[in-house]
Amino acid sequence: MYIIFMGPPGAGKGTQAERVAGELKLEHLAPGDLFRQAVKQESDLGNEVQGYMERGELVPDEITIRIILDKLDDIGDEKGVILDGFPRNYIQAVALDEALEKQNKAIDRVVNIQVEQKELVRRLSSRWLCRECQSPYSSSTADNPCLDGCPGCGGELYQRTDDKPETVARRLEVYYKETAPLIDYYRNQCKLVEVEGEGGVEEITARMIRALE
Ligand code: AP5
Repeated sequence: MYIIFMGPPGAGKGTQAERVAGELKLEHLAPGDLFRQAVKQESDLGNEVQGYMERGELVPDEITIRIILDKLDDIGDEKGVILDGFPRNYIQAVALDEALEKQNKAIDRVVNIQVEQKELVRRLSSRWLCRECQSPYSSSTADNPCLDGCPGCGGELYQRTDDKPETVARRLEVYYKETAPLIDYYRNQCKLVEVEGEGGVEEITARMIRALE
């Protein structure tokens, strides 16, 4: 089973992919997480992608496609996969379809998470992440964690450099220009399901799982 979670920055793709993958025993594959890990390790890949991420631009397709297709090969047929944040443009979507088709496979479902722009900006400006386990937290909700450390593993919490207001604005611009057109691409393939992404996290997970049934 191959599932794509789509939606603008801050829609809750990462939060929901983690939860749904846990519930349905799927792999969670997110290029953003892989790139951040590479930057943290100061690897060659990290050095290549850092500038694009800090500017809120997409990392070049040849790098992203290669990394994701290699990871899909590594995962193999044992487990289904949730792709969170891939594909993000037409070139990536076609590359993914072609690679799967060669193995007689296909994307099963694409879930598009819908959230108003005002709420996206609010979420991103109050987001904190754990350096160790990558779990996201919000400093503006009632269940606000103690920002001294990750409630899950005790790791240090930090704010992403691309969550600065000017970079968020650029990421949203890139999303509407490059990624949003994929909604119609998958709708035309009858694979798209829309899910309302505002409300409680658990409630949205239940909606996501219903959308996949
Ligand atoms: P990536 O890491 O994928 O960032 P993004 O798509 O901009 O998405 P976010 O991680 O910001 O948001 P999300 O939708 O996952 O929401 P989250 O669950 O975290 O990509 C980063 C960069 O990597 C890109 O800009 C690009 O440079 C590069 N990149 C990645 N993929 C690429 C590709 N395919 N091609 C080329 N380049 C690529 O939630 C956000 C916040 O909201 C959190 O604080 C969370 O706790 C909170 N929250 C979640 N749900 C709720 C809720 N229901 N109510 C209230 N708060 C909530």
